[in-house]
Amino acid sequence: MTMVKSASYLVATIVVQNQLTFGSSFLVQRPPLALYPTGRQSLRRVMEDFERMGKNDNHDDDNKISKRDSGRGGAVVVAAAHEGGGTTNDDEDGHGGRGIAVVDDAPQLPPHPSSSATTTTAMTISDGGVAIVGDHAITDPQAIADYYLQHENIPRVILRADLLGRSAHAQIMRILPKAPPSTTAAAVAVNSGPTSPPPMIATSNRRRQLVSSTPEWKRLQRHADEVIRPSHLRDMLRDSNRCESMIAHHDGVYLDYTRQRVTAETMDLLFDLAERQGLRERIRDMFGGERINFTEDRAVLHTALRAGRDEIGSVYVDGVDVVGEVHDVLDRVRRFTDAFRAGEITGYTGKRMRNIVSVGIGGSYLGPEFLHEVLKTESEGINTSLGYDLRFLANVDPVDVERTCADLDPEETLIIVVSKTFTTAETMLNARTMRQWLWDFMGDDADVVRRHVIACSSVSATENVRAFGIDTNEGMFRFWDWVGGRYSVCGAAGAVPISLMYGYDLFEKFLEGARSMDKHFLNAPPRENIPIIMGLLGCWNSSFMGYSSRALIPYAQALLRLPAHIQQLDMESNGKRINRHGVEIDYPVGEVDFGEPGTNSQHSFFQMIHQGQTVPVDFLGFVRSQHDLLMDNEKLSSHDELMANFFAQPDALANGKTAEEVRSEGCPEELVLHKVFDGNRPSSSLLFPQLSAYVTGQILSLYEHRTAVQGFIWDLNSFDQWGVELGKKLALDVKEHLMEARNSEVGDHEIIIADNPATSRIMNYYIKNSRDAVRGGGSSNPVTSATSVTRKTHKDHFPPQINDLGGLSGRLS
Ligand code: F6P
Repeated sequence: MTMVKSASYLVATIVVQNQLTFGSSFLVQRPPLALYPTGRQSLRRVMEDFERMGKNDNHDDDNKISKRDSGRGGAVVVAAAHEGGGTTNDDEDGHGGRGIAVVDDAPQLPPHPSSSATTTTAMTISDGGVAIVGDHAITDPQAIADYYLQHENIPRVILRADLLGRSAHAQIMRILPKAPPSTTAAAVAVNSGPTSPPPMIATSNRRRQLVSSTPEWKRLQRHADEVIRPSHLRDMLRDSNRCESMIAHHDGVYLDYTRQRVTAETMDLLFDLAERQGLRERIRDMFGGERINFTEDRAVLHTALRAGRDEIGSVYVDGVDVVGEVHDVLDRVRRFTDAFRAGEITGYTGKRMRNIVSVGIGGSYLGPEFLHEVLKTESEGINTSLGYDLRFLANVDPVDVERTCADLDPEETLIIVVSKTFTTAETMLNARTMRQWLWDFMGDDADVVRRHVIACSSVSATENVRAFGIDTNEGMFRFWDWVGGRYSVCGAAGAVPISLMYGYDLFEKFLEGARSMDKHFLNAPPRENIPIIMGLLGCWNSSFMGYSSRALIPYAQALLRLPAHIQQLDMESNGKRINRHGVEIDYPVGEVDFGEPGTNSQHSFFQMIHQGQTVPVDFLGFVRSQHDLLMDNEKLSSHDELMANFFAQPDALANGKTAEEVRSEGCPEELVLHKVFDGNRPSSSLLFPQLSAYVTGQILSLYEHRTAVQGFIWDLNSFDQWGVELGKKLALDVKEHLMEARNSEVGDHEIIIADNPATSRIMNYYIKNSRDAVRGGGSSNPVTSATSVTRKTHKDHFPPQINDLGGLSGRLS
């Protein structure tokens, strides 16, 4: 017997403004949501709308209901919170058997990417619509509606707000009170499905859409279990033929992967898998400008950012010569930075500008910062940067503002706002803070902003950039939507700050290095191709050997920020769970990437790497130091000392130390086991000539392409980042609660978040204690005492006084 649960809905209809409510950049053609507040009366109207849409499929009518290619209406309707509901007949609501009904044996849908459930229960309705219910992990109603319309053979989607996540519910409920009356027709009229839905995939075929179902994958699994797991690296490393075959070179880069837990057969099987996945074609598609970022319908062309002038006219997107455009922007960067460094561009008060503050976060910060750290001690960089100071402001923590600019003279400071979207909350607040900082010192004049603030942003953000007060003709350097933030360091995001600080010529050397590795990646046969080999080894370690983390250890202090950049690059790219066919993957992908320079890391987390969990490591070393030292009484130079560790660690990890070896050193028996190292821990060693701008470009490109290879093998879209988008929206809800509390007339306004007592409680604790602190509690406990006072203007304490550093006298916030 089919049990049917009724749901009662109050209904009044509004059209949701996508851009206001859910962000504007989801799918290229996204059907807008129509919202129906709860109420029985209007449920009838929902159903009538559905019926009208059904009748009007395949031809637009007066209501402009658009068709889908599938031949069925593509309405997306969100039905908001129901009241009650229970197990009963679907007739109970009085809709003649056509009400929204939950059927116990409803089909199971694969979960949406934002869901934590393994399946999503579907509600069927009589005329073929499908509702997604029972998944509290869903926080973005538009995204899930779009997702199912794109990937399932579903003509319509109803989302029940009361059964979605808290944030989705809140988003819907926020809109409802603003509903204009009697807009039902309009709500239906704006619905239009995607014009070309992806091919429908029957659920039974879904398994076959997984790379894990291929014979190549299964052979690797068997090989891992039968050949590799029983073997030890100690023995493998004795085989000189094997070791000989596990070296690759290109343009000064030397890769040694002999200490990976692989044999020649493993590599053969991995190359077979690459073949099966069409790796070479996918690489060519990427370089050629195909729209491989399919969830955003975008090309992926960070390689065009460093293409040479001789490649102008070789790649087109939407009829536009992308390399030509890149060089136009680079030429502008060169002209602007040359003029700045020649003192032709001066500040508002006529002073020459020497300080550069780059405001941006994520990809708009990490890449440029890692490059800056390298160039600080690079021989050419040392000279070209003399007299200049470059800083990065990323965190929205006000302390980051303090740390970045407390000792800078605003009259001599240029601010670069680096944001592809020019909407990122952290960056925009920091940008406004820096603008205020300038105004505090030089007066609230539009010209202050025009002369002291420039932007790196996408063309679509031009109006926002202008509204901020920036001169969009002279002071805006463009991004393209075919470059993701984390892949953008070779574009304006890196070009502008680095060229201002070090001169354009040095930045160009960085591009040349990246280009050299790009060409190698595109053209070298897979068995000699360093990024392909490293990508395949990444897949091997993660998916077949089960190592879920990975460390990057540069034996070069100047690369101290490389691990942070690669962490974002890789984890934001391959931290995914749905493959390109819209199927949930059933194999491990994506590593937890982390790292620190050697030797510091050895005295930090290497204990675990040697004797705890197995963490594959990339060791990066350099033949020559940027600055070597050899003191009279020392037998080795400091660089040799450093490099001794670079050579020793991989062997220690691979070979380990047996109990016999420990005993032979005279170790007391009770300590022997504590001193045993099981070894068999994989690593790769990369050796480069010397850390220069050029080599840094090679390293960057190498790791970008490693990430792409892994994504291609795993069948992921490595170029979107919906997980981060979700996080951005969640903070908006919290901010609204905070604003309510802060603006409340009632002294002890309490935050109540529906169904979320834990967050309500901790937020109330925060609000109460911050109020008490301002009122002054007299306690020395910083939680309840008023030790900090937000200053009103930045000018209050410039130049900084001794006391400012301790935050005393209320002078520093
Ligand atoms: O962290 C998410 C992200 O979207 C990154 O990919 C991007 O680099 C960063 O935010 C900053 O975005 P924007 O450049 O638009 O300010």
